[in-house]
Amino acid sequence: MAVPGNAGIGRKWSCHPIRYGDRDTFFEIVEQNAVDLVVVGPEGPLVEGMADALVKRGIAVFGPTAKAARLEGSKVFMKTFAQEVGIPTAPFKVFKSPTAARAYVRTLDVPPVIKADGLCAGKGVVVAESVSEALSAVDAILERRAFGESGAAIVVEERLHGQEVSVQAMCDGERMFVLPVAQDHKRLKDGDLGANTGGMGAYAPVPLVTPELEKRIRDRILEPTLTGMRDRGMPFRGVLFAGLMITPEGDPFLLEFNARFGDPEAQVTLPLLQGDFGQVCYACARGELEEGMLTIENRHSLGVVLASHGYPKNVRTGDSIRGLDEVESLEDVKLFHAGTRALGDRLVTSSGRVVTIVGMADSLQNARDRAYQACDMISFDGMQLRRDIGGRALS
Ligand code: AMP
Ligand code: GLY
Repeated sequence: MAVPGNAGIGRKWSCHPIRYGDRDTFFEIVEQNAVDLVVVGPEGPLVEGMADALVKRGIAVFGPTAKAARLEGSKVFMKTFAQEVGIPTAPFKVFKSPTAARAYVRTLDVPPVIKADGLCAGKGVVVAESVSEALSAVDAILERRAFGESGAAIVVEERLHGQEVSVQAMCDGERMFVLPVAQDHKRLKDGDLGANTGGMGAYAPVPLVTPELEKRIRDRILEPTLTGMRDRGMPFRGVLFAGLMITPEGDPFLLEFNARFGDPEAQVTLPLLQGDFGQVCYACARGELEEGMLTIENRHSLGVVLASHGYPKNVRTGDSIRGLDEVESLEDVKLFHAGTRALGDRLVTSSGRVVTIVGMADSLQNARDRAYQACDMISFDGMQLRRDIGGRALS
């Protein structure tokens, strides 16, 4: 079952669309259904201590405690931790005073990246193109509190260049299972143009990340994180998502951690796994992850996000979606619902990113062809999609 779930999940499982933050109703549902395991999906409830509250009630949780979720919930915590345990990350300084932050930014020759400390629904990072843009970001976050208390402190860090990749590891506090490396496409439009979004498509595995580089990522970033968190008395159980910059020299640097699966990275990596996924979540929750519980299929996957009219700024909802049934019956194509809602016997759009269509095949090119063939079978008014997902790896 899912809370709140969506129209896609609702076709197979029961959904309980409760109000966000209504914990009493949530715990009632958990108790009445004798739930054994809760997988907490998004970062908000994790940072607010949902895992702690469930553990207190004796229920197994796949998802970190509030303390451990600070790897995502506080950029200051994350950067300080990375520095302490020696994880390669961009040089940075932390500020609470806008005056001090402005004075520091003015000393820089190259425009920095400004990050609000707390959760800002993906909007708290400004990769400044000029010093004046960086100064404006300081004002907006620290002075005017555009993100409320999430902007009580900022990180000012050096801008890195290269290719971004996403690495997700399912962790049990001590051990981890590393999923295939994925690459997201964050900009709205082809050629990495247009507004920043939550992600418009992804593919996996990423040819840029050789087995040798993957080992370095594991040894220099993932393992030190797991060990460092355990040693600090806040073992990380759940999905550790590392957003990395691979520099032109081939060195991995940590940009961000998430305490959850990536979206759309999950849609392209989970279908490549073989094994009992629920059992693995349960094993992670109990600190009992074992080697060999999951294996990775030797295939390629590519996912394209279909987004609503106006996404990401002024999302329009309520548009009728056509063609989903036809896509559902295709072989080697997976359809993941996000912002869909049942309205009578129709399905309508209900938020910015509507569905992700994933094609799977023995090559990236074939996976891509499959995904786009399926995309062309779906339509709704104002539908937006990128036509160049995976282009960089194929060119
Ligand atoms: P974050 O939430 O910290 O990952 O930042 C969101 C996005 O901003 C990242 O996915 C990158 O595209 C970009 N970004 C963050 N930090 C840096 C950096 N130091 N250099 C270049 N780009 C960055
Ligand atoms: N696609 C990046 C994220 O889920 O944060």
